[in-house]
Amino acid sequence: MKKGVSFEIESLGDTVIPNTASTASYFKFHSDSERVLYHHLLSKFQGEVDEQGLPAGFEVAGPRENIFFQGEKCRAAILTCGGLCPGLNAVIRGIVLQLWYFYHCKQIFGVRYGYNGLRNDSEEIVKLNPDWVRDIHSVGGTMLGTSRGAPPVDEMVNKLEALKVDMLFIIGGDGSMRGGHAIWQEVRRRGLQLAVIGVPKTIDNDIPYVHRSFGYETAVKEAAKVVNAAHVESRGAPYGIGLVKLMGRYSGYITANAVLASGNADFCLIPESPFELEGDNGLFALVKERLRRRRQVVIVVAEGAGQQFFRREELIKDASGNTKPGDIGAYLRDRLNTHFLDVGFPVTLKYIDPSYIIRSTPPNFSDKIYCDHLARAAAHAAMAGKGGMLIGNWHGHLTHVPMSALEGEVRQVDLQSDFWFSVLENTRQPYIIGPSVCVAD
Ligand code: F6P
Repeated sequence: MKKGVSFEIESLGDTVIPNTASTASYFKFHSDSERVLYHHLLSKFQGEVDEQGLPAGFEVAGPRENIFFQGEKCRAAILTCGGLCPGLNAVIRGIVLQLWYFYHCKQIFGVRYGYNGLRNDSEEIVKLNPDWVRDIHSVGGTMLGTSRGAPPVDEMVNKLEALKVDMLFIIGGDGSMRGGHAIWQEVRRRGLQLAVIGVPKTIDNDIPYVHRSFGYETAVKEAAKVVNAAHVESRGAPYGIGLVKLMGRYSGYITANAVLASGNADFCLIPESPFELEGDNGLFALVKERLRRRRQVVIVVAEGAGQQFFRREELIKDASGNTKPGDIGAYLRDRLNTHFLDVGFPVTLKYIDPSYIIRSTPPNFSDKIYCDHLARAAAHAAMAGKGGMLIGNWHGHLTHVPMSALEGEVRQVDLQSDFWFSVLENTRQPYIIGPSVCVAD
């Protein structure tokens, strides 16, 4: 947890309208004072308390007994930003159905192509209703389209004002959530009554204060299939090397979990743990030793791993301002092939880069269910007039997380965790690959 971070959620004002959603009489309402504690282990709790003397924790998500907006009069907008991720359509559908049927909010706009659909001159707005979303939850990608980058905040808020929108739902990654925070700040500055709610999305599972982002589980399952394919390929040839590159710019969660789910990898290389190629304990030597012993090797590398092999100046940025990682998969393929040719040890290397195939898959059942929960929680939060927040998941509970808490934070694999040690035990790779490497302080 970042020092001094606040988990307080802002809102548009007092909630004085009784929640008369269709199922309200059966709801178990949640109050804003219900909290999910940040530390769930007593041993980790170091006595930090907030201004009310309570340990740090997140507001519990869910329906509120009194709300801010009157559903029938509400106008909502939904957009999807950033890279694709399984489950985007399921979240869109869940929000529309919850608003329409339970809060009777029937003016719902879909903003096409992410924040760019909020440009002045954009006419990328569609009207959403239950018919429009009926079958979309089983389809990969996003029916609204997406994009990276955004017009100036002013311009976006002008557009939202022109559309007379009361609530904006942003389905996007950490960058999009930061964009959402900027929109929320502008909304507050102008004194508008516009709720801004995020639903965190990324196959990388790298959003701070969110244990699980939707689509991630589907992505791991698909990635594990690819690792299994690399295993089969590497077994089919003498001294076979199966090399797989998976997504994960800053975090190795997909790679590490795909390795665990497949159980067939010998090396798991992630951005959090730098590695070297040369030397007694470098990747070349370790691979050779495995080949000698088992005649096959499977290496799974996250796209953000080994970035020290590339010159930063040569890397380009995407429209969201993220540096595009150097192609570590192709780099390792070429270096391994050249190395083993040079040392007179012939290998057969098969390289697989499934990248967009994984991202564009439809969500599996577990993700579909999860998307639906997230979407409904987002609708409840918006109706309660909350803003500048996203729906999190902490110790298995849905929570409200202020977008501002993400500032300056990255969620990465902890190299001292049981999780990472289980990867090391599974692959039997050493903690440090390369003599000169220093990991985890
Ligand atoms: O959204 C995150 C992500 O899937 C990363 O894993 C990957 O680096 C990036 O998007 C690639 O996005 P694109 O090529 O679509 O810009």
